[in-house]
Amino acid sequence: MKYKEIIDQMTLEEKASLMSGKDFWQSQDIPRLNIPNLFLSDGPHGLRKQAVAADHLGLNESLPATCFPTAATLANSWNEDLGEQIGQALGEEALSQKVNVLLGPGINIKRNPLCGRNFEYFSEDPYLAGKLSSSMIRGIQSQGVSACVKHFSVNNQEMNRMTIDTIVDERTLREIYLTAFEMAVKEGQVKSLMSSYNKLNGFYTNENLHLMQDILRIDWNYDGCVITDWGGSNDRVEGLRAGNELEMPTTGGETDRDIVLAIKEGKIEESILDEAVNRLLTLTYDTNKALSDRDVTVDIEQHHKLAQTAAEESIVLLKNEGDILPLKENTSVAVIGDFADVPRYQGAGSSIVNPTKLDSFLDLIPSSSLNYVGYARGFKRYGGTSNALIRKACQLAKKADKVILFIGLDEYSEVEGLDRPNMKLPQNQIDLLHELSQVNKNIIIVLSSGSAVEMPWINKASGVLHAYLSGQAGAGAILNVITGQVNPSGKLAESYPFQYEDVSSRSNFPGMENSVEYREGLFVGYRYYDTSNTPVLFPFGYGLSYTQFKYEDLKLSQTSVSFTLSNTGLVKGSEISQLYIKGPSDQIFRPSKELKGFSKNHLEPGQSINITIPLDDKAFRYFNVKTQTWEIESGSYTIMIGSSSADIQLLDKIEITGTDAPSPYKKENLPSYFNGKVANVGDAEYEELLIEPRPDTLWNRKKALGYNDTIAQCQYAKSWVARLSFRLIIFAHWFLKCIGQRATANLIIMSVYHMPFRGIARMTGGIFSLPMIDGLLMVVNGHFFKGFNHFFKEKKKLKKAHK
Ligand code: BGC
Repeated sequence: MKYKEIIDQMTLEEKASLMSGKDFWQSQDIPRLNIPNLFLSDGPHGLRKQAVAADHLGLNESLPATCFPTAATLANSWNEDLGEQIGQALGEEALSQKVNVLLGPGINIKRNPLCGRNFEYFSEDPYLAGKLSSSMIRGIQSQGVSACVKHFSVNNQEMNRMTIDTIVDERTLREIYLTAFEMAVKEGQVKSLMSSYNKLNGFYTNENLHLMQDILRIDWNYDGCVITDWGGSNDRVEGLRAGNELEMPTTGGETDRDIVLAIKEGKIEESILDEAVNRLLTLTYDTNKALSDRDVTVDIEQHHKLAQTAAEESIVLLKNEGDILPLKENTSVAVIGDFADVPRYQGAGSSIVNPTKLDSFLDLIPSSSLNYVGYARGFKRYGGTSNALIRKACQLAKKADKVILFIGLDEYSEVEGLDRPNMKLPQNQIDLLHELSQVNKNIIIVLSSGSAVEMPWINKASGVLHAYLSGQAGAGAILNVITGQVNPSGKLAESYPFQYEDVSSRSNFPGMENSVEYREGLFVGYRYYDTSNTPVLFPFGYGLSYTQFKYEDLKLSQTSVSFTLSNTGLVKGSEISQLYIKGPSDQIFRPSKELKGFSKNHLEPGQSINITIPLDDKAFRYFNVKTQTWEIESGSYTIMIGSSSADIQLLDKIEITGTDAPSPYKKENLPSYFNGKVANVGDAEYEELLIEPRPDTLWNRKKALGYNDTIAQCQYAKSWVARLSFRLIIFAHWFLKCIGQRATANLIIMSVYHMPFRGIARMTGGIFSLPMIDGLLMVVNGHFFKGFNHFFKEKKKLKKAHK
């Protein structure tokens, strides 16, 4: 142990005290031994250092910082160098604000387009998410501070995020949901990792020995720190046993006392605590050294420019009928849509950044090469049809040659803590588009949203540019793409189905009560659409350019794939070439193609280059649940080079000698998985895949409520007081929405409705103890007076303990 000497000087109480926060954002220090603390801040696409009032929901202001495009946007760049540059910039800003740990990147897989935090995550594909997040981590950590990759793992819905039990089979877990984390650990060398709120197969992830020990520490050899998500610790001692170093935020010492007691009673060995302290001290000393060694002044302007470059590389041109884009000099344009004035550039919740500046398209367009005719707001940002706004917009549209229409989702629609109810754009925006298309046929849509939306309206526009959530400098990037200063090169990091009904997890999303079952298995995103032949509007990896590319000369070796790429068009541009592989046999079911490599290259018109993509350790492997390890099938693999997952340009086969482990499957029992049609997997087939029995998906309404039951479950509590309180919460939510207070209404759902009772103790900095919650639970379970009595007795005890 590196810090054995210091650890030997510490009392048991001091060691335990390091295992939880000092306050909302800082870990504990020990001045007697000159042990400093850590300062942790969100993350992920900009720094959110709160200097005064603290919260984990993005309510109170933070110090100004550069707001880069969110991960969902940046993923479309497929550019690892760019990811590293942004990481470096984030690391510099963290250094300059004396932040040791930046809480990001977030790399959960986009299992379903409705997950409320998809805007914070990279992709539906683990390889892409793993590569891009690793590059970001390397950039952040190049500055000496730590990234904190999150949320580990299977946190793919916001509904009941603090209690939901994610039921997923081992192979899907490893191949789809853990691969990006594995890459962040091995390739990114991430120094800290945040456990997620939810359970995985029956155990809270933070206490899940299989996840935290077998996989993270043993298989991946991870020697960094594990930090809980804020308020996400269930049983502190079990968390420690699984290898958690830091519970955040503070619990006022309550859980430190749990650790001390457990060690004194012999329930857990002190050596486990010592190891955890050693790892925490390593993180603390290493990052504090960087903070004290370097005095960084951030070049705000340069970071703003980098944010713009990132947006330029990430914008995806989805439609360009008749080459409507780029717009020639002096084209007369009408700009319509609220987002042109007040950009929609980031999501809501803990990731919210207070930007150093914010560009607006309306401010930039007058000085562009275009002939700007005027602006009309067109629609009310937060819904509700206004015929007057539509009329004005149509009058303006008639005066211009082309219409640039800004539409998308508003900031309350994509929020931490809440999933989206559907994949639709607000009706008032669609109505506006319809009316505009009657008066002007040349409509270019600029779409802003952090996740996939349905586009049944797309034939009303000639051009569609998806800007995603493009950060504080997004407006300049959009303008540059529209005018052709920048040739768009982004490609979708997620599929766009025609309709939500086409999504493979639609029948099992979100898990509403006790658990969520990942019945679709490996078949997430394009893995499903492609294998089940479900047509999509825009496939994974899709994006247009102002030039054309030609692929030829595919050559395969055992270790790499090479080919020639030429720019055959008239302008310079970048192309993202994608390597997909299909497995060799029908004994191990697999998606019909999986991304295993990619390369982004910039080419001048007429230029040809040779590109080599390595076949790495992920290329042929699959996880065998019988041998419980990664195996490779021998046989003939199909190697595909595509310009998207649906546009394969080059294809060949290669013979690979594998490990040839026995197949774990009885094919006749798993028909849906062998043909990829997994939208409606029945109980028996799912249980065959799972091997383990599965718990009830619904809450048990008969049992008394406990620590890990949510406030929402008060709806069927024994006590009428609890049931009434539940009704009041629902009423408050409804009322706030009616009077237009959507932010506060959302907050009620995020911080009250889905909160487990234990969260009241874990999120209030030691004001409430767990024994006090026992009292509350007694009240909820119908023992009104006994409960109150207990509550106040425990309150007194806590007061005494604090003295
Ligand atoms: C979020 C984390 C975030 C933390 C601190 C939690 O609610 O899930 O992503 O880092 O708060 O703000």
